[in-house]
Amino acid sequence: MKDQYKERIEQLLSKMTLEEKVGQLKQCGPSLVGAFEVSFEELLDMMFDGKISHDEFERLMSTATQDYHEEELRSGRIGSYNGISDAKTANRLQKLAVEETRLGIPLLFGYDVIHGFETVTPIPLAESCAWEPKLWEKTARMAAEEATAGGVHMTFAPMVDVAKDARWGRISEGAGEDPLLNACYGAAKVRGFQGDDLTKPDAMIACVKHFAGYGAAESGKDYNRVDMSMQRLWEEYLPGYQACIKAGARAVMPAFNDINGTPCTANHWLLKDILRKKWGFGGVTVSDANAIAELTEHGIAEDLAEAAKKALLAGTEIDMTSNVYAEYLPELIQSKNVKEDVLDEAVFHVLHLKFEAGLFEHPYRTDEVCKQHTLLGKEYRETAREAAAKSMVLLKNTGILPLKKEMKLGIFGSLAADRAEMTGAWSIKAEPGNCISIIDACKTRRISYEYHPGTFADSADKKAIDEIAKQSDVLLVAVGEQKNESGEAASRADITLPLEQLRLVNELQATGRPVIAVLFNGRPLALQPLEEKASAILEAWHPGTEAGNAVMDILYGDINPSGKLTTTFPYTSGQCPIYYAHMNTGRPGGKSKFTSKYLDTPLEPLYPFGYGLSYTEYTYSDLTVQVQKDGFRVSVQVKNTGSRDGDEIIQCYVRDINAQRARPVKELKAFEKRTITAGQTIIQEFIIPYQTLGYYDQEMNYIIEPGTFKFYVGGNVKNVLECEAEYQN
Ligand code: GLC
Repeated sequence: MKDQYKERIEQLLSKMTLEEKVGQLKQCGPSLVGAFEVSFEELLDMMFDGKISHDEFERLMSTATQDYHEEELRSGRIGSYNGISDAKTANRLQKLAVEETRLGIPLLFGYDVIHGFETVTPIPLAESCAWEPKLWEKTARMAAEEATAGGVHMTFAPMVDVAKDARWGRISEGAGEDPLLNACYGAAKVRGFQGDDLTKPDAMIACVKHFAGYGAAESGKDYNRVDMSMQRLWEEYLPGYQACIKAGARAVMPAFNDINGTPCTANHWLLKDILRKKWGFGGVTVSDANAIAELTEHGIAEDLAEAAKKALLAGTEIDMTSNVYAEYLPELIQSKNVKEDVLDEAVFHVLHLKFEAGLFEHPYRTDEVCKQHTLLGKEYRETAREAAAKSMVLLKNTGILPLKKEMKLGIFGSLAADRAEMTGAWSIKAEPGNCISIIDACKTRRISYEYHPGTFADSADKKAIDEIAKQSDVLLVAVGEQKNESGEAASRADITLPLEQLRLVNELQATGRPVIAVLFNGRPLALQPLEEKASAILEAWHPGTEAGNAVMDILYGDINPSGKLTTTFPYTSGQCPIYYAHMNTGRPGGKSKFTSKYLDTPLEPLYPFGYGLSYTEYTYSDLTVQVQKDGFRVSVQVKNTGSRDGDEIIQCYVRDINAQRARPVKELKAFEKRTITAGQTIIQEFIIPYQTLGYYDQEMNYIIEPGTFKFYVGGNVKNVLECEAEYQN
């Protein structure tokens, strides 16, 4: 198909000076110039580390001025920004670019719109537990409407890094451990962000990240090496990115990590051979923050000039905030060390994306766009509340839930009253005060409750806690993580609950009143001590703006919980990485000594992948598998045997029993969330194409072998019906 922009771009390129071309590859963020002695990053760290309060941080920020590098901008040496999130500033800078630079090339504004903008939806790991592509698309569309009204053109999302190690803080930012779920999640987000026409004012370019395999960082330590076979990379880690490209994502962010020693930022095989040639990607690549400069730290570039050369030749195009391209590319080109047509190709992609987004025709966020979507509007809050409730996973319930209105609650734990912590990692635009805490929701619902932060500063605290407990029918304790304990640069080697939280749970349980634990966290945690003491456990994650309302909607049964885990929850940190699609090994764990197991920890997880309780029950029966022309037709009956309607996430796993390379004991091949009314029986059918049952042989040929396949269908990866079928090609 003819490229409608090619001619205009080539004309523009022919007029551009070398500095103007390099300028299109420069992405900078506003730098803060302030009366404070430390850098903005150090100030952020001080706030995250609790050295200064959020208010103190805000006060300091208010004294700071933003330097937007306007002189550089006027000389045509800036092509895009990261971090502009209001239409007024965006329009002001855009005016400089369009009206005061020699060629009037518009700017592109990028921002981390990861799970909402002003209205914050659950962190991605939470929302993935809804197993609902329509919901994922809907919340992405809402985020795009809000963010584009704030001047944003591109989001650095979705993140589809498959993550199997709960110690890795960024497990919070993706769709968990399964390739199929990450692929479905990412494609839905791309559709939601970009809409059906990139030139529309509320379309937001999706920048899929982090390409590739970032979630496999060794030992769960952020930014660490990634080393794996090509078979594993292709079978388990690449599908999500490919699904996003197929869904039309127009930008890709190479990951900080290396793959088998070659950093993604300078990985020609990854960025050219796979992304461009094999997958036909025609958009733009945007480095991660400072990643080009960090090639010297990786040890593959002697200096920043070599880093610039290697990154550009490999296919990293926009340089996010390292400034290495701006400083070194002109000389590298002039000295013929790098051919100018390599630079032209990168600039072509950047200009092409700006044309695709209609920026040459409509560079400004006009008022009607800004007014069109009232930020934090009623319908956005309703969507956030729906998404939060669908993301929550009921892990335990001895029958105490749902609560009765007349029950008096004793509420404990600072997280029950902390609005700011509800937004989770990467909610940089949100006003924490807009969040609803559990306490806020109790007030709205006129629930009778007493609250205590649950700290034991002195004996008076213990007395007060006991008093409240004795006067209450049910005790609700909010435990988990602060939002800065997950997300980027937040890996944890010990993923148990803090001792003071466990002490609180023990004290409450000792009163003899039933204890309901509500978890606010950004990763799977090692919950065994809690599991033993609580009568009910609701995994609420970091649920966003409508946190408290969604929690109470579930606890009081207005909503029947339907969320299911997309990551495996271990007994102990030492089990990490633990995931369902593991290999059987030659000595699968069992009773006898010489089998694959631990001496001091169960082999099984505490809560398995795909697990989640409901206020009703479902029974599965009549599993059949028929061999058809292009795939297996799987059919199962599911009955709602309880007294409440509910949504059940039906999961279909497959195992290739005998192959040239050992295959995982189970792999998710299909899922469907179905509404089943009380007493109703439904039939769920899946078609599993033979094409999806292949794997890579030793020579990296994708093969689909005839033979026996086992099918497992159920409401989680463990409790399943099974049957076998033969594939004869
Ligand atoms: C960060 C993250 C990346 C984010 C980028 C821009 O370092 O790795 O996910 O999009 O910087 O803020």
